[in-house]
Amino acid sequence: MNKTDDVKNHFEKPHHVADHGGEAPGGEAAILDYANTDWEKAFWFLRQRQITEMVVARLRPGSRILEVGCGVGELISGLARRGYACTGLDISTAMIEQARQREAARPSGITWLTGDVVSHDAPPYDAVIANGVICYYAEQRPFLEKIRTLLSPDGVAVISHRNRLFNLVALNAGTVDFLETDLLAHLPAVERERALTRLRESLPGMTSPIERSSNHALMRTAENPLTVSAQYVDCGFRVEEIVATCIHPLPPRLTDIRRGEDVFEVTKRYERSWQGLFLGSQFIVGARRAD
Ligand SMILES: C[S@@+](CC[C@H](N)C(=O)[O-])C[C@H]1O[C@@H](n2cnc3c(N)ncnc32)[C@H](O)[C@@H]1O
Repeated sequence: MNKTDDVKNHFEKPHHVADHGGEAPGGEAAILDYANTDWEKAFWFLRQRQITEMVVARLRPGSRILEVGCGVGELISGLARRGYACTGLDISTAMIEQARQREAARPSGITWLTGDVVSHDAPPYDAVIANGVICYYAEQRPFLEKIRTLLSPDGVAVISHRNRLFNLVALNAGTVDFLETDLLAHLPAVERERALTRLRESLPGMTSPIERSSNHALMRTAENPLTVSAQYVDCGFRVEEIVATCIHPLPPRLTDIRRGEDVFEVTKRYERSWQGLFLGSQFIVGARRAD
């Protein structure tokens, strides 16, 4: 699994700085256009909205927000424009440099900091958010514990995770891995291999690698949304909601036939349903520091 230095070096590369995120388009039609051409981006815009809604539902304007791993700062800039006192922290100097340049064109009073969240120290924040950050580490517990110490009593954490349950419906190497290491783990090795061989033969492409994404070079850890609450409780949080995101009506492998789906409709329908816990390749946890 990645070490902190590997993650930092990865996100210092110009390709990842320029490639990541992008400007959120104004209307739903623009996001639907992305859904026809660039699903990663359409999902990213929707996730940005979901996180913003979860924060806005819990905080008064003027509250102090820290975004951990803010990247080039699109999400935190949107929150700053809504009247929150925002800090963007990232371990990558290149990301923060780009964030400062973006903000110079449209100042919103954000404090930008370069550094590892693990060594960050500051007066307590009312909310800490982390979108697509802690999945790069095998052990997520130290991050949750650190985020708790950065929060005021009853402070809010909004954190995205990759969804391990999605592997069941992804119909790719992740599915085979889920069957091998979870569902069929109890079988004797010979029988397990027989079942997996049969599966690979019946569904060609089942061994295709998990779909490429802009940052596929790093390993990512997936969590189980049905059990993740216990981890949050252990780290001193109470979980208020879990929202499914990046909802795939069809497995990513079937890219060719999935054009034209209404990503808004699908997200609205499934983000808070049990189906969403399987169809979303990611999920967002909304939690509060419990004292
Ligand atoms: C996939 S990017 C996500 C960026 C942004 N949150 C977004 O959704 O657009 C992950 C970011 O987390 C940052 N990061 C990773 N580990 C970190 C750490 N330990 N402390 C602070 N930032 C970190 C990386 O440099 C990178 O910019």
